[in-house]
Amino acid sequence: MLKGKKIVLGVCGGIAAYKAVELLRLYVKAGAEIFVVMTRSAQEFVTPLTFQTLSGNPVHTDLFSLYQEREIGHISLADRADLFVVAPATANVIGKVAAGIADDLLTTTLMATKASVLFVPAMNVNMWENPLYRQNEEKLSALGYHFLEPVTGALACGWEGKGKLPDPQAIFEESEWLLGNADLAGETVLVTAGPTREELDPVRFLSNYSSGKMGFAIARAARNRGARVILIAGPTCLNPPCGVEFHAVVSALQMRDAAMAWMEDASIVIKAAAVADYRPVTSSREKIKKEKTREMTVHYQKNPDILAELGQVKGERILVGFAAETEDLLENARKKLVEKNLDLIVANDVTQAGAGFDVDTNIVRLLYRDGAVEDLPQLSKDEVAHILLDRIAVMRGKDREE
Ligand code: PMT
Repeated sequence: MLKGKKIVLGVCGGIAAYKAVELLRLYVKAGAEIFVVMTRSAQEFVTPLTFQTLSGNPVHTDLFSLYQEREIGHISLADRADLFVVAPATANVIGKVAAGIADDLLTTTLMATKASVLFVPAMNVNMWENPLYRQNEEKLSALGYHFLEPVTGALACGWEGKGKLPDPQAIFEESEWLLGNADLAGETVLVTAGPTREELDPVRFLSNYSSGKMGFAIARAARNRGARVILIAGPTCLNPPCGVEFHAVVSALQMRDAAMAWMEDASIVIKAAAVADYRPVTSSREKIKKEKTREMTVHYQKNPDILAELGQVKGERILVGFAAETEDLLENARKKLVEKNLDLIVANDVTQAGAGFDVDTNIVRLLYRDGAVEDLPQLSKDEVAHILLDRIAVMRGKDREE
Protein backbone atom coordinates (compact mmCIF):
# COMPACT_ATOMS: atom_id res chain seq x y z
CA MET A 1 0.00 0.00 0.00
CA LEU A 2 2.90 2.39 0.66
CA LYS A 3 4.86 1.20 -2.37
CA GLY A 4 5.95 4.20 -4.44
CA LYS A 5 4.36 6.69 -2.05
CA LYS A 6 6.37 9.77 -1.13
CA ILE A 7 6.35 10.57 2.55
CA VAL A 8 7.95 13.61 4.13
CA LEU A 9 9.01 12.68 7.65
CA GLY A 10 9.45 15.66 9.95
CA VAL A 11 11.52 14.96 13.04
CA CYS A 12 11.42 17.36 15.99
CA GLY A 13 13.74 17.59 18.98
CA GLY A 14 12.75 15.09 21.64
CA ILE A 15 14.15 11.95 23.15
CA ALA A 16 11.70 9.94 21.00
CA ALA A 17 13.54 11.14 17.85
CA TYR A 18 15.43 7.84 17.84
CA LYS A 19 12.13 6.02 17.28
CA ALA A 20 11.70 7.95 14.03
CA VAL A 21 14.65 5.90 12.73
CA GLU A 22 12.66 2.70 13.24
CA LEU A 23 9.63 4.32 11.62
CA LEU A 24 11.76 5.27 8.62
CA ARG A 25 12.92 1.67 8.29
CA LEU A 26 9.31 0.43 8.26
CA TYR A 27 8.40 2.92 5.53
CA VAL A 28 11.44 2.00 3.44
CA LYS A 29 10.74 -1.74 3.86
CA ALA A 30 7.21 -1.11 2.56
CA GLY A 31 8.62 0.54 -0.59
CA ALA A 32 7.87 4.19 0.25
CA GLU A 33 10.27 6.99 -0.66
CA ILE A 34 11.13 9.08 2.37
CA PHE A 35 12.34 12.66 2.60
CA VAL A 36 13.40 13.63 6.09
CA VAL A 37 13.20 17.16 7.46
CA MET A 38 14.86 17.69 10.85
CA THR A 39 14.59 20.65 13.15
CA ARG A 40 17.75 22.03 14.69
CA SER A 41 16.85 20.44 18.07
CA ALA A 42 16.18 17.04 16.46
CA GLN A 43 19.80 16.99 15.32
CA GLU A 44 20.87 17.10 18.98
CA PHE A 45 19.29 13.67 19.44
CA VAL A 46 19.97 11.83 16.16
CA THR A 47 22.34 12.80 13.36
CA PRO A 48 21.05 13.59 9.86
CA LEU A 49 23.52 11.01 8.58
CA THR A 50 21.51 8.21 10.20
CA PHE A 51 18.33 9.23 8.37
CA GLN A 52 20.22 9.94 5.15
CA THR A 53 21.85 6.52 5.13
CA LEU A 54 18.59 4.69 5.80
CA SER A 55 16.39 6.74 3.46
CA GLY A 56 18.91 7.00 0.63
CA ASN A 57 17.92 10.67 0.26
CA PRO A 58 19.57 13.86 1.51
CA VAL A 59 18.19 15.04 4.84
CA HIS A 60 16.83 18.57 4.87
CA THR A 61 17.72 20.74 7.82
CA ASP A 62 18.14 24.31 6.68
CA LEU A 63 15.61 26.62 5.13
CA PHE A 64 18.13 28.84 3.42
CA SER A 65 20.63 26.39 1.99
CA LEU A 66 17.84 24.95 -0.09
CA TYR A 67 17.48 28.16 -2.04
CA GLN A 68 20.74 27.19 -3.71
CA GLU A 69 18.91 24.31 -5.34
CA ARG A 70 17.24 24.73 -8.71
CA GLU A 71 13.84 24.30 -7.07
CA ILE A 72 12.76 26.16 -3.96
CA GLY A 73 13.43 23.46 -1.37
CA HIS A 74 10.55 23.74 1.05
CA ILE A 75 8.00 24.16 -1.75
CA SER A 76 9.38 21.21 -3.66
CA LEU A 77 9.30 19.05 -0.52
CA ALA A 78 5.79 20.21 0.31
CA ASP A 79 4.57 19.48 -3.23
CA ARG A 80 6.07 16.05 -3.59
CA ALA A 81 4.54 14.64 -0.38
CA ASP A 82 1.70 12.15 -0.61
CA LEU A 83 1.73 12.26 3.17
CA PHE A 84 3.51 14.42 5.72
CA VAL A 85 4.26 12.76 9.06
CA VAL A 86 5.76 14.65 11.99
CA ALA A 87 7.08 12.16 14.54
CA PRO A 88 7.92 13.02 17.22
CA ALA A 89 6.01 16.30 17.08
CA THR A 90 6.84 18.69 19.91
CA ALA A 91 4.47 21.12 21.62
CA ASN A 92 6.65 23.87 20.16
CA VAL A 93 6.23 22.86 16.51
CA ILE A 94 2.51 22.09 16.94
CA GLY A 95 2.08 25.45 18.65
CA LYS A 96 3.87 27.25 15.84
CA VAL A 97 1.81 25.60 13.13
CA ALA A 98 -1.39 26.36 15.06
CA ALA A 99 -0.32 30.01 15.27
CA GLY A 100 0.60 30.17 11.58
CA ILE A 101 4.29 30.66 12.33
CA ALA A 102 6.73 29.36 9.71
CA ASP A 103 10.22 30.23 10.88
CA ASP A 104 12.25 27.16 9.97
CA LEU A 105 12.31 24.53 7.26
CA LEU A 106 9.88 22.13 8.94
CA THR A 107 7.19 24.68 9.81
CA THR A 108 7.58 26.39 6.42
CA THR A 109 7.19 23.11 4.56
CA LEU A 110 4.20 22.19 6.72
CA MET A 111 2.63 25.52 5.87
CA ALA A 112 3.16 24.97 2.15
CA THR A 113 1.96 21.40 1.82
CA LYS A 114 -1.42 20.33 0.53
CA ALA A 115 -0.81 16.71 1.58
CA SER A 116 -2.48 15.12 4.60
CA VAL A 117 -0.47 15.85 7.73
CA LEU A 118 -0.15 13.42 10.62
CA PHE A 119 1.24 14.79 13.88
CA VAL A 120 2.48 12.21 16.37
CA PRO A 121 3.09 14.21 19.55
CA ALA A 122 5.50 13.11 22.28
CA MET A 123 6.07 15.27 25.34
CA ASN A 124 5.90 15.54 29.09
CA VAL A 125 2.44 14.63 30.45
CA ASN A 126 1.92 18.12 31.95
CA MET A 127 2.71 19.74 28.62
CA TRP A 128 0.28 17.32 26.94
CA GLU A 129 -2.45 18.29 29.41
CA ASN A 130 -1.65 22.02 29.32
CA PRO A 131 -4.74 23.92 28.06
CA LEU A 132 -2.57 25.90 25.66
CA TYR A 133 -1.38 22.71 24.01
CA ARG A 134 -4.89 21.23 24.06
CA GLN A 135 -6.27 24.32 22.30
CA ASN A 136 -3.59 24.10 19.62
CA GLU A 137 -4.33 20.45 18.95
CA GLU A 138 -8.07 21.07 18.84
CA LYS A 139 -7.58 23.97 16.45
CA LEU A 140 -5.42 21.92 14.09
CA SER A 141 -7.75 18.90 14.27
CA ALA A 142 -10.66 21.11 13.32
CA LEU A 143 -8.61 22.28 10.32
CA GLY A 144 -8.15 18.68 9.12
CA TYR A 145 -4.71 17.86 10.54
CA HIS A 146 -4.51 14.32 11.89
CA PHE A 147 -3.17 13.36 15.29
CA LEU A 148 -2.09 10.00 16.66
CA GLU A 149 -2.27 10.23 20.42
CA PRO A 150 0.72 9.50 22.62
CA VAL A 151 0.62 6.44 24.82
CA THR A 152 0.82 6.22 28.60
CA GLY A 153 3.96 5.04 30.34
CA ALA A 154 7.17 6.05 32.08
CA LEU A 155 8.42 9.23 30.40
CA ALA A 156 12.05 10.15 29.86
CA CYS A 157 11.57 13.21 32.09
CA GLY A 158 10.82 10.95 35.06
CA TRP A 159 7.07 11.52 35.06
CA GLU A 160 4.56 8.73 34.50
CA GLY A 161 1.61 9.44 32.22
CA LYS A 162 0.46 10.14 28.70
CA GLY A 163 3.19 11.52 26.45
CA LYS A 164 5.21 8.62 25.00
CA LEU A 165 5.53 8.32 21.25
CA PRO A 166 3.38 5.36 20.09
CA ASP A 167 5.11 2.29 18.77
CA PRO A 168 6.55 2.96 15.25
CA GLN A 169 4.37 0.10 13.95
CA ALA A 170 1.26 1.98 15.11
CA ILE A 171 2.45 5.15 13.34
CA PHE A 172 3.18 3.09 10.23
CA GLU A 173 -0.33 1.61 10.29
CA GLU A 174 -1.88 5.06 10.78
CA SER A 175 0.10 6.24 7.74
CA GLU A 176 -1.12 3.28 5.70
CA TRP A 177 -4.65 4.12 6.67
CA LEU A 178 -4.25 7.78 5.69
CA LEU A 179 -2.80 6.78 2.33
CA GLY A 180 -5.21 3.92 1.80
CA ASN A 181 -7.58 3.45 -1.04
CA ALA A 182 -10.86 3.44 0.86
CA ASP A 183 -12.55 0.93 -1.45
CA LEU A 184 -14.14 -0.82 1.53
CA ALA A 185 -15.58 2.34 3.04
CA GLY A 186 -19.13 1.66 4.17
CA GLU A 187 -18.45 -2.05 4.74
CA THR A 188 -18.27 -3.67 8.15
CA VAL A 189 -15.82 -6.55 8.12
CA LEU A 190 -16.00 -9.13 10.90
CA VAL A 191 -12.76 -11.11 11.21
CA THR A 192 -12.00 -14.00 13.53
CA ALA A 193 -8.38 -14.85 14.25
CA GLY A 194 -6.09 -16.96 16.36
CA PRO A 195 -6.68 -20.21 18.20
CA THR A 196 -9.25 -21.11 20.82
CA ARG A 197 -8.33 -22.72 24.10
CA GLU A 198 -10.47 -25.45 25.60
CA GLU A 199 -9.82 -25.74 29.29
CA LEU A 200 -9.07 -29.05 30.95
CA ASP A 201 -8.25 -27.61 34.36
CA PRO A 202 -7.08 -24.16 35.56
CA VAL A 203 -3.57 -24.73 34.16
CA ARG A 204 -4.09 -26.91 31.06
CA PHE A 205 -5.93 -26.58 27.79
CA LEU A 206 -6.38 -28.03 24.31
CA SER A 207 -5.41 -25.62 21.53
CA ASN A 208 -3.44 -25.33 18.27
CA TYR A 209 -0.52 -23.42 16.75
CA SER A 210 -2.44 -20.47 15.33
CA SER A 211 -0.62 -17.20 16.07
CA GLY A 212 -3.40 -14.93 14.81
CA LYS A 213 -1.07 -13.41 12.16
CA MET A 214 -3.31 -14.26 9.20
CA GLY A 215 -6.50 -12.90 10.78
CA PHE A 216 -4.81 -9.80 12.17
CA ALA A 217 -3.34 -9.06 8.71
CA ILE A 218 -6.84 -9.23 7.23
CA ALA A 219 -8.22 -6.95 9.94
CA ARG A 220 -5.39 -4.44 9.39
CA ALA A 221 -5.78 -4.48 5.61
CA ALA A 222 -9.58 -4.05 5.79
CA ARG A 223 -9.21 -1.19 8.20
CA ASN A 224 -6.61 0.45 5.94
CA ARG A 225 -9.10 0.17 3.09
CA GLY A 226 -11.69 2.16 4.96
CA ALA A 227 -13.87 -0.58 6.44
CA ARG A 228 -15.18 -0.66 9.96
CA VAL A 229 -13.48 -3.75 11.35
CA ILE A 230 -14.60 -5.99 14.20
CA LEU A 231 -11.85 -8.41 15.19
CA ILE A 232 -12.66 -11.36 17.44
CA ALA A 233 -9.54 -13.23 18.47
CA GLY A 234 -8.55 -16.09 20.67
CA PRO A 235 -5.40 -15.80 22.79
CA THR A 236 -2.45 -14.41 20.78
CA CYS A 237 0.68 -12.38 21.50
CA LEU A 238 -0.25 -9.77 18.89
CA ASN A 239 -1.36 -6.20 19.50
CA PRO A 240 -4.68 -5.48 17.79
CA PRO A 241 -4.22 -3.13 14.83
CA CYS A 242 -5.17 0.41 15.79
CA GLY A 243 -8.61 1.50 14.76
CA VAL A 244 -10.26 -1.91 14.88
CA GLU A 245 -12.93 -2.94 17.38
CA PHE A 246 -11.25 -5.73 19.27
CA HIS A 247 -12.94 -8.51 21.24
CA ALA A 248 -10.73 -11.03 23.01
CA VAL A 249 -12.17 -14.47 23.61
CA VAL A 250 -10.69 -17.72 24.87
CA SER A 251 -12.88 -20.71 24.00
CA ALA A 252 -14.82 -21.77 20.92
CA LEU A 253 -18.09 -21.20 22.77
CA GLN A 254 -17.04 -17.63 23.56
CA MET A 255 -15.98 -17.10 19.96
CA ARG A 256 -19.32 -18.40 18.74
CA ASP A 257 -21.24 -16.05 21.06
CA ALA A 258 -19.14 -13.05 20.00
CA ALA A 259 -19.35 -13.91 16.28
CA MET A 260 -23.13 -14.39 16.39
CA ALA A 261 -23.57 -11.14 18.31
CA TRP A 262 -21.42 -9.04 15.93
CA MET A 263 -22.61 -10.79 12.76
CA GLU A 264 -25.66 -8.51 12.78
CA ASP A 265 -23.45 -5.49 12.02
CA ALA A 266 -21.27 -7.15 9.39
CA SER A 267 -21.52 -7.05 5.61
CA ILE A 268 -18.43 -9.25 5.18
CA VAL A 269 -17.37 -12.09 7.51
CA ILE A 270 -13.94 -13.71 7.26
CA LYS A 271 -13.18 -16.65 9.54
CA ALA A 272 -9.43 -17.12 9.74
CA ALA A 273 -9.54 -18.45 13.30
CA ALA A 274 -8.43 -21.97 14.04
CA VAL A 275 -11.29 -23.10 16.24
CA ALA A 276 -10.77 -26.22 18.34
CA ASP A 277 -13.27 -28.77 17.06
CA TYR A 278 -13.55 -30.43 20.47
CA ARG A 279 -13.55 -29.42 24.13
CA PRO A 280 -13.23 -31.59 27.23
CA VAL A 281 -16.64 -32.76 28.46
CA THR A 282 -15.72 -31.59 31.93
CA SER A 283 -13.22 -29.03 33.09
CA SER A 284 -11.80 -29.56 36.56
CA ARG A 285 -12.07 -26.60 38.92
CA GLU A 286 -8.84 -27.70 40.62
CA LYS A 287 -5.53 -28.63 39.01
CA ILE A 288 -5.65 -32.33 38.18
CA LYS A 289 -3.08 -34.09 40.39
CA LYS A 290 -0.83 -36.65 38.79
CA GLU A 291 -0.70 -38.75 42.00
CA LYS A 292 -4.39 -39.61 41.72
CA THR A 293 -4.24 -41.79 38.59
CA ARG A 294 -1.57 -43.59 36.60
CA GLU A 295 -3.46 -43.12 33.36
CA MET A 296 -5.85 -40.43 32.38
CA THR A 297 -8.61 -40.50 29.80
CA VAL A 298 -10.12 -37.24 28.64
CA HIS A 299 -13.54 -37.29 27.04
CA TYR A 300 -14.15 -34.61 24.46
CA GLN A 301 -17.34 -33.25 23.01
CA LYS A 302 -17.77 -31.43 19.74
CA ASN A 303 -17.68 -27.67 19.65
CA PRO A 304 -20.23 -25.86 17.54
CA ASP A 305 -19.11 -25.22 13.97
CA ILE A 306 -19.27 -21.43 14.10
CA LEU A 307 -18.76 -20.94 10.38
CA ALA A 308 -21.50 -23.42 9.51
CA GLU A 309 -23.85 -21.60 11.89
CA LEU A 310 -22.94 -18.28 10.30
CA GLY A 311 -23.57 -19.86 6.88
CA GLN A 312 -27.14 -20.64 7.87
CA VAL A 313 -27.93 -17.01 8.67
CA LYS A 314 -25.62 -15.25 6.24
CA GLY A 315 -28.29 -13.55 4.12
CA GLU A 316 -26.69 -11.09 1.68
CA ARG A 317 -23.37 -11.03 3.52
CA ILE A 318 -20.16 -12.28 1.95
CA LEU A 319 -18.96 -15.22 4.01
CA VAL A 320 -15.36 -16.38 3.68
CA GLY A 321 -13.79 -19.34 5.44
CA PHE A 322 -10.29 -20.75 5.65
CA ALA A 323 -9.41 -24.41 5.36
CA ALA A 324 -6.29 -25.68 7.11
CA GLU A 325 -5.54 -29.02 5.49
CA THR A 326 -2.78 -31.60 5.65
CA GLU A 327 -4.09 -33.78 2.79
CA ASP A 328 -6.51 -33.61 -0.17
CA LEU A 329 -6.43 -29.82 -0.01
CA LEU A 330 -8.84 -28.98 -2.82
CA GLU A 331 -11.31 -31.76 -2.15
CA ASN A 332 -11.59 -31.01 1.57
CA ALA A 333 -11.73 -27.27 1.05
CA ARG A 334 -14.47 -27.56 -1.59
CA LYS A 335 -16.51 -29.73 0.76
CA LYS A 336 -16.29 -27.02 3.44
CA LEU A 337 -17.17 -24.30 0.91
CA VAL A 338 -20.39 -26.09 -0.01
CA GLU A 339 -21.39 -27.51 3.39
CA LYS A 340 -20.83 -24.22 5.23
CA ASN A 341 -22.56 -22.12 2.53
CA LEU A 342 -19.52 -19.91 1.84
CA ASP A 343 -18.85 -17.49 -1.01
CA LEU A 344 -15.14 -18.19 -0.97
CA ILE A 345 -12.73 -20.42 0.91
CA VAL A 346 -9.01 -19.86 1.39
CA ALA A 347 -7.28 -23.22 1.42
CA ASN A 348 -3.83 -23.58 2.92
CA ASP A 349 -1.82 -26.77 3.08
CA VAL A 350 -0.37 -26.29 6.53
CA THR A 351 2.32 -28.93 5.96
CA GLN A 352 4.03 -26.71 3.36
CA ALA A 353 7.04 -24.66 4.52
CA GLY A 354 6.08 -20.98 4.49
CA ALA A 355 2.36 -21.70 4.81
CA GLY A 356 -0.17 -21.92 7.60
CA PHE A 357 0.45 -21.63 11.30
CA ASP A 358 2.74 -19.15 13.02
CA VAL A 359 4.75 -17.96 10.01
CA ASP A 360 4.74 -14.55 8.33
CA THR A 361 3.88 -15.93 4.89
CA ASN A 362 1.17 -18.13 3.45
CA ILE A 363 0.62 -20.17 0.29
CA VAL A 364 -3.08 -20.32 -0.47
CA ARG A 365 -5.58 -21.39 -3.08
CA LEU A 366 -8.81 -19.45 -3.38
CA LEU A 367 -11.85 -21.59 -4.19
CA TYR A 368 -14.98 -19.90 -5.48
CA ARG A 369 -18.59 -21.11 -5.54
CA ASP A 370 -18.61 -21.43 -9.33
CA GLY A 371 -15.80 -23.97 -9.15
CA ALA A 372 -12.99 -21.59 -10.07
CA VAL A 373 -9.67 -22.01 -8.26
CA GLU A 374 -7.00 -19.33 -8.00
CA ASP A 375 -3.50 -20.34 -6.92
CA LEU A 376 -1.36 -17.74 -5.19
CA PRO A 377 2.40 -18.04 -4.72
CA GLN A 378 4.11 -17.71 -1.37
CA LEU A 379 3.26 -14.22 -0.16
CA SER A 380 3.38 -12.30 3.09
CA LYS A 381 0.18 -12.62 5.10
CA ASP A 382 -0.39 -8.88 4.51
CA GLU A 383 -0.26 -9.48 0.74
CA VAL A 384 -2.61 -12.47 0.99
CA ALA A 385 -4.98 -10.29 3.02
CA HIS A 386 -5.04 -7.57 0.36
CA ILE A 387 -5.57 -10.00 -2.51
CA LEU A 388 -8.41 -11.65 -0.60
CA LEU A 389 -9.98 -8.23 0.01
CA ASP A 390 -9.49 -7.35 -3.68
CA ARG A 391 -11.57 -10.40 -4.60
CA ILE A 392 -14.21 -9.61 -1.99
CA ALA A 393 -14.36 -5.99 -3.19
CA VAL A 394 -15.14 -7.27 -6.68
CA MET A 395 -17.92 -9.46 -5.26
CA ARG A 396 -19.32 -6.35 -3.56
CA GLY A 397 -19.04 -4.46 -6.85
CA LYS A 398 -16.22 -2.27 -5.57
CA ASP A 399 -13.26 -2.85 -7.84
CA ARG A 400 -10.06 -1.52 -6.39
CA GLU A 401 -8.42 1.47 -8.05
CA GLU A 402 -4.64 1.23 -8.27
O1 PMT B 1 -2.99 -17.69 12.85
P1 PMT B 1 -1.80 -18.00 11.97
O2 PMT B 1 -0.63 -18.53 12.74
O3 PMT B 1 -1.45 -16.85 11.07
O4 PMT B 1 -2.22 -19.22 11.01
C1 PMT B 1 -3.15 -19.04 9.99
C2 PMT B 1 -4.15 -20.20 9.89
C3 PMT B 1 -3.39 -21.46 9.46
C4 PMT B 1 -4.82 -20.45 11.25
C5 PMT B 1 -5.22 -19.80 8.82
O5 PMT B 1 -4.59 -19.57 7.60
C6 PMT B 1 -6.28 -20.87 8.68
O6 PMT B 1 -6.15 -21.79 7.90
N1 PMT B 1 -7.40 -20.76 9.46
C7 PMT B 1 -8.44 -21.79 9.54
C8 PMT B 1 -8.00 -22.89 10.45
C9 PMT B 1 -9.07 -23.94 10.62
O7 PMT B 1 -9.61 -24.06 11.71
O8 PMT B 1 -9.37 -24.61 9.54
P2 PMT B 1 -10.51 -25.77 9.48
O9 PMT B 1 -10.33 -26.36 8.16
O10 PMT B 1 -10.43 -26.64 10.69
O11 PMT B 1 -11.86 -24.95 9.55
C10 PMT B 1 -12.53 -24.48 8.40
C11 PMT B 1 -13.23 -23.18 8.69
O12 PMT B 1 -14.27 -23.41 9.66
C12 PMT B 1 -12.35 -22.10 9.24
O13 PMT B 1 -12.73 -20.88 8.66
C13 PMT B 1 -12.65 -22.11 10.74
O14 PMT B 1 -12.53 -20.79 11.31
C14 PMT B 1 -14.09 -22.57 10.76
N2 PMT B 1 -14.46 -23.35 11.97
C15 PMT B 1 -13.86 -24.55 12.22
C16 PMT B 1 -14.26 -25.30 13.30
C17 PMT B 1 -15.27 -24.79 14.16
N3 PMT B 1 -15.65 -25.46 15.21
N4 PMT B 1 -15.82 -23.61 13.89
C18 PMT B 1 -15.44 -22.89 12.81
O15 PMT B 1 -15.96 -21.79 12.56
